[in-house]
Amino acid sequence: MTATGRAAGVRARADEVRSTVEASPVHDERTAAILGLALGVSFTICFVTGLLSHLAQHPTSWFAWPARPAGLYRVTQGLHVATGLASIPLLLAKLWAVFPHLFRWPPFESAAHLVERVMLVPLVFGSVFLLFTGTANVMHWYPWRFSFTRSHYWVAWMTVGALVAHVGAKAGTTVLALRRRDTTGTSAGATAATAGDGVGPAPSSSPAIPSRRAYLGWTAAASGLVTLTTVGQTVWPLRSAAVLAPRRPDIGPQGVPVNGVPSAEVRAAATSADYRFRVYGDVEEELSLTLEELRSLPGHTAALPITCVEGWSRQATWTGVTVSELMARAGVPASATVDVRVESFQHGSAYQYSTMSDEQARDRDALIAFDLGGEPLHMDHGYPARLIAPNRPGVLQTKWVEAIRVTRR
Ligand code: HEM
Repeated sequence: MTATGRAAGVRARADEVRSTVEASPVHDERTAAILGLALGVSFTICFVTGLLSHLAQHPTSWFAWPARPAGLYRVTQGLHVATGLASIPLLLAKLWAVFPHLFRWPPFESAAHLVERVMLVPLVFGSVFLLFTGTANVMHWYPWRFSFTRSHYWVAWMTVGALVAHVGAKAGTTVLALRRRDTTGTSAGATAATAGDGVGPAPSSSPAIPSRRAYLGWTAAASGLVTLTTVGQTVWPLRSAAVLAPRRPDIGPQGVPVNGVPSAEVRAAATSADYRFRVYGDVEEELSLTLEELRSLPGHTAALPITCVEGWSRQATWTGVTVSELMARAGVPASATVDVRVESFQHGSAYQYSTMSDEQARDRDALIAFDLGGEPLHMDHGYPARLIAPNRPGVLQTKWVEAIRVTRR
């Protein structure tokens, strides 16, 4: 075939695709605008709650994650994962709605239009990447070698940047598409107008074209179903419906789920007769307590959630000694401003230490806990002692604790 023949073929294919696009309300601007709005809202929620999770784990000089309300992180991270999972059907529906526009000919009409189309690359790649890695992470499936948190974090910035540019470029079209009366939902002729009004059935000459209302309805139903079958991992009354969630909040040792289990070394250190719990650093008198001595100190019981970064959570009753009580016994004045490092037997692992600000450490419910639900901690929950404090991601509720180090500011 000659070059002229090939060009004519491409043009004919483009015309064919364009007429299909114009005839289908599924692929028109109004459908794209509605799905775009829904994704804009869900990605904004994901981005803000994701940033909060990042700040809770990586405090900065300008933002200190508060100790209260005790269940705040449970809400923000539960929302993050639930909204992210619900976005999967939305994104697939949006990509399908706009997919035929890729065949547009000519591919761009001006320099500004070219830039706008190039920005779609990070937007589409970033959205798919975030939803895929996020879902794989909560399912404990890691088919990659890079750091999940670092890449998820930076791709989130890139995606949201591209999203802002996309929203800016499409704001006018979106407003017009949404303002237009739905009965003129497509700009094409009678066939499309009937199919696109979302009310009447499509004419018999185009049975394959679903109405916009049906398309959006199925998309919303798919998002709702994903939410219903996963959100029970943190919303207690829906726990038995959480058939697609990686965790159920009522399943685990002592009725509380766990993620990390101890290595043989940690298990040996935790059950050793030589176990001592230490308080050291900027203290008047270092403490070195056997488990019995720790348990004999004035105790405190608190009802606090354990909340995983992966979106599951469980309210439970914990008993132990408050971090404040331990500091007072080591001679740290109540007036001193401190940072506290909680140290675990998990030597060499990313979870060996967690840190607490003064506000977090001095909270009335910040505990070195040894009982859960009135019984000694199960080994998987951090026996003989673990940190449990309000409003902290589970990765910072250090288990198998051997010491706390106090630093005065
Ligand atoms: C199915 C969808 C998603 C799931 C299941 C998901 C899951 C997660 C999880 C489990 C974390 C905590 C990681 C950790 O601390 O170990 C996280 C963090 C985060 N997510 Fe997502 N995510 C999803 C979508 C998104 C989207 C769409 C955005 C942005 C638009 C986003 C932005 C972030 C950010 C900024 C963080 C903080 C990363 C850090 O701590 O450095 N996520 N996500």
